[in-house]
Amino acid sequence: MIKIEASILSADFSKLGEQAVEAESAGADGVQVDVMDGRFVPRINFGPDTVKALRPLLKRTIDVHLMIVEPEHHIEAFAKAGADCLIVHQEACPQRLYQVLQSIRRFGVEAGVSISPSTPLSVLEEIWDVADVIQIMTVNPGLGGQPFLHDQVEKIRGLARRLNELGRNIPIVIDGGIDTKTAPLVVEAGAKILVAGSSIYNRRGSVAENLAALRASISSFKT
Ligand code: DX5
Repeated sequence: MIKIEASILSADFSKLGEQAVEAESAGADGVQVDVMDGRFVPRINFGPDTVKALRPLLKRTIDVHLMIVEPEHHIEAFAKAGADCLIVHQEACPQRLYQVLQSIRRFGVEAGVSISPSTPLSVLEEIWDVADVIQIMTVNPGLGGQPFLHDQVEKIRGLARRLNELGRNIPIVIDGGIDTKTAPLVVEAGAKILVAGSSIYNRRGSVAENLAALRASISSFKT
């Protein structure tokens, strides 16, 4: 089953809890919390206390997308705050990605790696044993509401092919510009988890209507 996670980056920050619950009640399979440190990406927002505040409100997964440098320094705080999955950027820890993913798992949290549009799939070759999810960015990290980068669809297809060759069942997460038009493209290419922010929170319809439209756009895919 294809999962849809609501990225609260596009939610109304003055009522974050309500908006996260609204997405979950409308059928989102989880929420993604985009953490930015002002160094790996220019903006700063969210931290472990955001996850801690959301945790008791939500029944499904809280996945944390760490767009930060030195992610290993923050694993314990996010794990203790209640994160279900921590996704680090390969570009933030290229020399120690394997160890960083191992240390996330040691806290009983799923370990994920995200690669930006300019990063090739080859950087993933050493980490198949320690990654629970692999996220492909279909926008440049750091901002919600950006246009989808269509040239990343081939990368998604290439990753799906490689995982199939290896017999690895690691879900591919897609983050960036996911809406009713782009969702089918990435699912057809092999994506299993879609992260959507502005198409859920910033479109004309309600959160429930927007989520239903997203779900309907991929309903022809049975996997
Ligand atoms: C970029 C963020 C966004 C966000 C999704 O750093 O990671 O991709 O989660 O935002 P939309 O769905 O608005 O592209």
